[in-house]
Amino acid sequence: MNLKELNSKSAEEILDWSSKEYSGRIALASSFGLEDMVLIDIISKLPQPISIFTLDTGRLHEETYTLIDRVRSRYKLEIVTYFPDSSSVEKLLREKGFLSFRESLENRKECCRIRKVDPLNRALKELSAWVTGLRKDQNVTRNDIQAVEEDKDHPPLVKINPLKDWASGDIEKYILKNNVPTNPLHKQNYPSIGCAPCTRSVEPGEDPRSGRWWWENPEHKECGLHQK
Ligand code: ADX
Ligand code: SF4
Repeated sequence: MNLKELNSKSAEEILDWSSKEYSGRIALASSFGLEDMVLIDIISKLPQPISIFTLDTGRLHEETYTLIDRVRSRYKLEIVTYFPDSSSVEKLLREKGFLSFRESLENRKECCRIRKVDPLNRALKELSAWVTGLRKDQNVTRNDIQAVEEDKDHPPLVKINPLKDWASGDIEKYILKNNVPTNPLHKQNYPSIGCAPCTRSVEPGEDPRSGRWWWENPEHKECGLHQK
């Protein structure tokens, strides 16, 4: 199958094909948000494994850590965890304090680089393909993603976005139908969850990502995991 043909396939078909094509060299990057929970549920039902890794920034909500442990026991899947380099975090905190990311876009990107991007690069070293929960309608920066695409930020890796065309209603339906565990913060109006100090609840009708880095413009709202 050529990569373009995969754009019209279901998430299950995309993941099934990918698990075989990149066997042993493919993993899901999971932040345990709603999209990633759908992907974990689908992956747990595939005949061929896809591993799962998470980037523990050290600043996640307590509820997220609790959910990660729930996933481990419910699905009996190993969650490979990457943690930031301790000396880089110590240096950042010593020089700029605990909330430097609020002071400027540059400082925010520095914190995301140390806590997310550098650990992601370590995770990707082991892989040929990675799976994400990106959806087109999440942000202006995401409206041209493909089911399977060359990852221009991490060549020669391939990036797989099985939920690219799903709307948030499709995600909710899948979760209800399959009784998938979710972060309790979603019920407190946190549709999109990242690090605790950079995530807040949103008002009904507000853009679901408006609670992420709420002090920044939408075109800056990427932490560096998904640049292009
Ligand atoms: S972010 O770049 O703004 O933080 P978002 O929360 O929308 O990303 O998540 C998009 C996708 O990026 C997730 O579905 C997941 O694949 C990946 N991702 C985001 N945060 C993490 C994390 N902490 N660990 C692993 N993967 C992550
Ligand atoms: Fe740092 Fe906030 Fe980025 Fe988390 S989301 S890595 S706390 S700047």
